[in-house]
Amino acid sequence: MAFQGYRLLLGLLLFVGLLIDNSIAVKPKHHTASLNRSSFPAGFIFGTASAAYQYEGAANEGGRGPSIWDTYTHRYPGRIKDGSNGDVAVDQYHHYKEDVGIMKEMGLDAYRFSISWSRVLPKGKLSGGVNREGIKYYNHLINQLLHKGLKPFVTLFHLDLPQALEDEYGGFLSPQIVDDFRDFAELCFKEFGDRVKHWITLNEPWSCSVGGYASGQIAPGRCSSWLNMNCIGGDSGTEPYLVAHYQLLAHAASVLEYKQKFQAAQKGVIGITLNSHWMIPFSNARHHRNAALRALDFMLGWFLDPLTYGDYPHSMRFLVGKRLPKFSKEQSKLVKGSFDFIGLNYYTTNYAAYAAHLNSGNASYSTDSLANLTTERNGIPIGPPAASDWLRVYPRGFLDLLLYIKEKYHNPLLYITENGIDEVNNATLSLEAALVDNQRIEYYYSHLWYLRKAINEGVNIKGYFAWSLLDNFEWNAGYTFRFGINYVDYKNGLKRHPKLSARWFKNFLKK
Ligand SMILES: *[C@@H]1O[C@H](CO)[C@@H](O)[C@H](O)[C@H]1NC(C)=O
Ligand SMILES: *[C@@H]1O[C@H](CO)[C@@H](O)[C@H](O)[C@H]1NC(C)=O
Ligand SMILES: *[C@@H]1O[C@H](CO)[C@@H](O)[C@H](O)[C@H]1NC(C)=O
Ligand SMILES: *[C@@H]1O[C@H](CO)[C@@H](O)[C@H](O)[C@H]1NC(C)=O
Repeated sequence: MAFQGYRLLLGLLLFVGLLIDNSIAVKPKHHTASLNRSSFPAGFIFGTASAAYQYEGAANEGGRGPSIWDTYTHRYPGRIKDGSNGDVAVDQYHHYKEDVGIMKEMGLDAYRFSISWSRVLPKGKLSGGVNREGIKYYNHLINQLLHKGLKPFVTLFHLDLPQALEDEYGGFLSPQIVDDFRDFAELCFKEFGDRVKHWITLNEPWSCSVGGYASGQIAPGRCSSWLNMNCIGGDSGTEPYLVAHYQLLAHAASVLEYKQKFQAAQKGVIGITLNSHWMIPFSNARHHRNAALRALDFMLGWFLDPLTYGDYPHSMRFLVGKRLPKFSKEQSKLVKGSFDFIGLNYYTTNYAAYAAHLNSGNASYSTDSLANLTTERNGIPIGPPAASDWLRVYPRGFLDLLLYIKEKYHNPLLYITENGIDEVNNATLSLEAALVDNQRIEYYYSHLWYLRKAINEGVNIKGYFAWSLLDNFEWNAGYTFRFGINYVDYKNGLKRHPKLSARWFKNFLKK
């Protein structure tokens, strides 16, 4: 597309953006091209994010052991929208040099990826043996990134638990996970910490707990039978809370390990990635305002309260009662303050309405908060839709969530570790048409605009990672949705093509 046409298009997009942004906040006033890298503090890091199971492929290569996602997708293909799996995914295992080249070409500063636990420890435990070939792959990837001037941000756990640990003791349902996770983390610090200076222990413990054990929509697909969701066993009223508890303890144990044995010599930092929607009260009535606060407690505070204050939010202790695990004094001390930074994933905003207790005796995470979450009010959606039904575009919520974290949690150092939007994988579109992702440009522009505003209002943010570099395997949605800034041609040898948003980012990132 000609440059002029491109500029005109951006102008139009901004105009449309003004029309659809129904928030009462100050509206973006500038032409989209006027927001760029120099609008952010010196040294601010821009990157893209990914995850091992969604990207790597090579599931049965190089000595890798199975994770719960291999088992789940193969045993229950009906639980994945298109019956697919991550056996090949976008094959970054074999394309990593090309992919780092794409990042370099875009002008990115960093890459967030995760390590497949069962690729380096096929049996999940040190006693089951270290797979040197797996270590070698990550060495190659890290070295290639550094060679091209990109900083590696490494996530240790992004949903892909080794199947061996699921089989042995139910994975994160058991306290035994704490020692095994710490051993895995220590192995990674030892092998990669000379070059990796940013560590993220867990990705979205909320998604792991709620998706895996309350709604059952992702592996291991557990929920209560009375929900009639065809789950693989489970109890939505207890298991998500146990899994969250052991994730927090595993996180804290590995942070302690890093701080005691590695940090002084390696001089890196370590944190955890949490995700949260912003929650808007259904109306200004007090019971809806309280519902919105409880909804934030049950999504963000569930983790950020223990990390900041050493215990679960009061609302959760009160409402979940005996089903909520308790921290011992020592555990509380260990968890409190166990981070150098918090990674935050933001995608969307919900309305929260008061919902009465259903007194059925069938408890579930989803009803414990006494809040009903929706994406529309009186038939009017909160924002434009994306492909994923949970994702409605509401950029102002990004700012409000950041300001809430600043106020409530003592302004912790933050990295935005994910933010993005998907479109449908539409087989009837021509390649040319599929690369025109105007809605994604609009999404990034408006979210970056509010991000800058948050920084100007004193929120302590040092970097931003877009989800995602490439289209990829979107968990229970398989390949039906595309989250990439770059297109992957699944029918044509997984060839990568820049979408319009990749060109927009390149322009934005120019130095
Ligand atoms: C970035 O935006 C500023 C205005 O905010 C502009 O002066 C500058 O030229 C832009 N930089 C680039 C590289 O486009
Ligand atoms: C939750 O909201 C939906 C959509 O507005 C509504 O149909 C449902 O009745 C509400 N549930 C409760 C418990 O308020
Ligand atoms: C509670 O669960 C039981 C099965 O465990 C079921 O028979 C009953 O209908 C459920 N109650 C409600 C209100 O869903
Ligand atoms: C797919 O693309 C065609 C145009 O080629 C369009 O008519 C159709 O609405 C699209 N489908 C979806 C689900 O976006």
